[in-house]
Amino acid sequence: MTRSLNQTRHLRLGVNIDHVATIRNARGGEHPEPIRAATIAAAAGADGITAHLREDRRHIRDDDLVALMGSLSIPLNLEMAATDEMLSIALRHKPHAACIVPEKREERTTEGGLDAASQQERLNDFVGQLRDANIRVSLFIEPDPRQVEAAIHLGAPVVEFHTGHYAEVSGAEREAELRRISDAAALAAKNGIEPHAGHGLTFDNVVPVAAIPQLAELNIGHFLIGEAIFGGLAGSIRQMRALMNDAR
Ligand code: PXP
Repeated sequence: MTRSLNQTRHLRLGVNIDHVATIRNARGGEHPEPIRAATIAAAAGADGITAHLREDRRHIRDDDLVALMGSLSIPLNLEMAATDEMLSIALRHKPHAACIVPEKREERTTEGGLDAASQQERLNDFVGQLRDANIRVSLFIEPDPRQVEAAIHLGAPVVEFHTGHYAEVSGAEREAELRRISDAAALAAKNGIEPHAGHGLTFDNVVPVAAIPQLAELNIGHFLIGEAIFGGLAGSIRQMRALMNDAR
């Protein structure tokens, strides 16, 4: 079968290790270590590691970032809010990629995409500084053409579509949300932006998303870490990898 230029055969898997740190932090000690999870993830087929350094350091901490930058064999995607503090940390550590996410102190997890369309002026300099430092910038946005247009204007090379709503709904609503993600991925790819997706993905809902041909990467965390309790981390990652491969 001939594949169009817009189709990416290998769908990369970024494993988000934040919740390894959540478990560690529950007891205040060092176990389980996120860097150990990252090493296992790499060996089990992860193409990258994702970690969100939150303003309140509720999971990943600054010393985790130092450890990840020092010994990871695969690229690190640092999720961060668009704040001066996070910008200076990213510029100091220079991860492979930085994904700009909205962040609210009171939220349990990232609740929606960044409203890039309404803060283009503020994000312009932010994105520019990261790009100038050779950090691959990604904007975590809703699968909405307005947000894709904003990413185009900002010159972001990557967008990550928020799949949280897709994961929460079912039936016709899920089909509609899948179409929104698929249309947004096609629009991004047509404009030279590499589309990614993530949030709330599980063994049960990953396949239709993984089958969207333009998507180049999925970032998955909470489910994989939770599932690791039952089947081990390497096992949960291998199973996700196999589902993603089969979808292509
Ligand atoms: N991508 C982004 C930008 C996120 O903020 C998160 C959650 O931290 C994820 C992917 C992974 O989501 P989940 O933990 O629900 O798999």
